[in-house]
Amino acid sequence: MKGNIFEEILGQDSLFTDRKAFDHAFEPARLPHREHELDSLVRNLVDALNGHIPSNMLLYGVPGSGKTVVTRYVLSQLREKGLEMGQSVHTYEINCRNVDTKYRVVQTIATQLAQRGDPPVPFTGWPTDRVLDTVVSRMSRVGGVHIIVLDEVDNLVDKGGG
Ligand SMILES: Nc1ncnc2c1ncn2[C@@H]1O[C@H](COP(=O)(O)OP(=O)(O)OP(=O)(O)O)[C@@H](O)[C@H]1O
Ligand SMILES: [Mg+2]
Repeated sequence: MKGNIFEEILGQDSLFTDRKAFDHAFEPARLPHREHELDSLVRNLVDALNGHIPSNMLLYGVPGSGKTVVTRYVLSQLREKGLEMGQSVHTYEINCRNVDTKYRVVQTIATQLAQRGDPPVPFTGWPTDRVLDTVVSRMSRVGGVHIIVLDEVDNLVDKGGG
């Protein structure tokens, strides 16, 4: 056998023009047919840029309809605008398929908000309200508006943790 066995294939044209589009974390540059949904999210979340707490929202739709990608896009735009305006906006995205109890959700946020010297919040063991108090005080310490996205939240409800 002569040469490297991958050599021949490497040079060949791929069937895909942009293979990254199949990646689960791929974010398209445009979100056609989601103008209405984007508008609803923006109208509610704009409050955060004025220092107010936006209303809770429940996004629902068939799998693959763009709930995750639209939310990520809106939040990145919100963070960008917040930075530009000097308005403190913090966002947290938690996938409840992986973090699937109420305790773990608040523990995850508490951990993300931890600063040097803070006691670690254990994965289990504390009463949930103690973790919640910790989250609230750490959020107050940072200040600004905090937006929490619970993606695939049905997993949390199924477990009776919602
Ligand atoms: N309007 C759109 N334009 C282009 N691509 C889109 C659009 N909406 C969704 N997609 C793409 O379709 C795929 C599925 O979208 P997404 O994961 O956001 O759906 P979902 O509603 O969160 O699905 P699930 O309920 O399974 O979590 C992703 O690759 C996403 O980039
Ligand atoms: Mg999704």
